[in-house]
Amino acid sequence: MDLKEYHKLMAPRLTVLVTTVDEKGRADVSPFSFVSPISFDPPLLMISCGLNKHVYWNIQRMKEFVINIPTEKQLEQLWLTGGKWDPNQSKIQKAGFKTEPAQKVRPPLLKECAAQIECYEEFSKKAGDHIMIVGKVVSMHVKDDLVDSKGNLRVDNVRPPLHVSDNLFAFPYVTKSV
Ligand SMILES: Cc1cc2nc3c(=O)[nH]c(=O)nc-3n(C[C@H](O)[C@H](O)[C@H](O)COP(=O)(O)O)c2cc1C
Repeated sequence: MDLKEYHKLMAPRLTVLVTTVDEKGRADVSPFSFVSPISFDPPLLMISCGLNKHVYWNIQRMKEFVINIPTEKQLEQLWLTGGKWDPNQSKIQKAGFKTEPAQKVRPPLLKECAAQIECYEEFSKKAGDHIMIVGKVVSMHVKDDLVDSKGNLRVDNVRPPLHVSDNLFAFPYVTKSV
């Protein structure tokens, strides 16, 4: 197997919808699965973005983004947003996402998502053919009935699409406590 295919073995991975805006305030959305929490305090997370993508250019200029956590119901919509953005044709509208204003950043929240995490760009670093974008969490939102008493996402209800590779997603939801 080609070593470049290693990520197919690191599966399935949470898939998020990243919203950004350009300098004219036009909003974009893209699915990302190279995503990870990286620090509790300060609260930092990381997305890894291929070169030459509007997502990165928007974050580089505007220093802000939102991580939206989709549900199983949004799988088809998520898939529609995986192509290149033409700033004159909104991918958000094309996929039929409803939006609402964020609290601290300019990119919109995707309303029907289970949760939304607002971030300021902390720093970015090139890593191979991707750029690691580290964001500081500055606000977050989740529907009350989608978290348990400890704040854990009720994954068995939300059933977030987990990316295997390409157009393949997994929904392996059974929760167990140890
Ligand atoms: C399920 C899924 C997960 C993806 N994960 C990533 C990722 O982690 N990093 C990345 O750079 N692109 C990823 N992509 C591709 C981007 O979503 C795509 O290149 C982006 O929408 C292009 O938009 P833009 O160049 O207009 O910003 C993924 C695509 C899909 C469908």
